[in-house]
Amino acid sequence: MYRLVFTQVLQRFDAEAVHRLTVAGLALLARLPLLKRLLHQAYAPHDPALRVSAFGVHFPGPLGLAAGFDKDAACAEGIAALGFSHVEVGTITAHGQPGNPRPRLFRLPRQRALINRMGFNNEGALAAARRLRRPRSVPVVVGVNIGKTKVVPESEAVGDYVASARTLAPLADYLVVNVSSPNTPGLRNLQAVTLLRPLLTAVKEVADATPRRTPLLVKIAPDLADDDIDAVADLALEIGLDGIIATNTTIRHSGEQGGLSGRPLKERSLEVLRRLRARVGDRLTLVSAGGVEDVDDVWERLLAGATLVQGYSGWIYGGPLWAARIHRQLAVRVRRHGMKSITEAIGRTA
Ligand SMILES: Cc1cc2nc3c(=O)[nH]c(=O)nc-3n(C[C@H](O)[C@H](O)[C@H](O)COP(=O)(O)O)c2cc1C
Repeated sequence: MYRLVFTQVLQRFDAEAVHRLTVAGLALLARLPLLKRLLHQAYAPHDPALRVSAFGVHFPGPLGLAAGFDKDAACAEGIAALGFSHVEVGTITAHGQPGNPRPRLFRLPRQRALINRMGFNNEGALAAARRLRRPRSVPVVVGVNIGKTKVVPESEAVGDYVASARTLAPLADYLVVNVSSPNTPGLRNLQAVTLLRPLLTAVKEVADATPRRTPLLVKIAPDLADDDIDAVADLALEIGLDGIIATNTTIRHSGEQGGLSGRPLKERSLEVLRRLRARVGDRLTLVSAGGVEDVDDVWERLLAGATLVQGYSGWIYGGPLWAARIHRQLAVRVRRHGMKSITEAIGRTA
């Protein structure tokens, strides 16, 4: 049914226009407490066998929405009501910015993929903080993903990230330093350990100083060389980060300029996860994103060592209740394997 709606209706409209409308709809849902609670009751994961804990935070299930959909923290409750266990909002920058000129989001339906060059369009940290302070009536784990403001030069990047962290870390269930988006010039250079060490150290100081000590993760690109992946993993251990999110979109493709996500990213994303797991074992929480389409993909990531799994493109092609469906199927699979908890699957084949 959704496939029909997608091919016959949604695909006829500009991808970003559909995205904006969806965010507005989900934000509206947040203002309708009864409907929101009903949907949450029906679709959010409630099965105790699906619960996972990571860095001291309890998640009702492993599958969350990756960063980039709810860029301004406008609709996390609505997203949770559709079945995601957590929502990573952002990327948020210290200063609001318009992002790149449109069009900047493209569908590749035959490949079940997307290309985007959004460029961190967002209203800035203060606007997001105002929204994150609003009381919520359904439970949702909210991660906050921060990035560099475009006009800030690389030499001042640390101060820019720290400014965002000061505003947002106290309001986040976990904080993510994004150094891997391809659409802010120079951003991915920050993945080099010489630049990454001072950046992560400074942000960690801020995250550690919040009343609850906000867990801190770093999000990396799939295009890093294997040695660089190892170097970031070692650095994360050395500094005492809580985890790594792998991966962002890839620039290894021949289409429109921008980052490619969805099915073509699956293999590399899994490869990066396996490499990270081999390097760090269970000393860091690994969050796997990239090309997750169905319950088999989520299961495979868990077995390979991810505690949490995130999707974005899979949801666009899978329909609004994609995450609810996968969580339901995961619960069945857990029992079929004679497990009491999905946590027994984590790292099994690593
Ligand atoms: C339209 C779009 C916008 C995105 N924006 C961000 C972003 O702002 N920050 C970020 O860390 N990742 C962003 N991503 C990357 C996703 O969070 C995710 O890492 C990537 O898409 C791989 O997952 P997928 O294959 O399930 O889509 C974006 C992805 C898409 C498709």
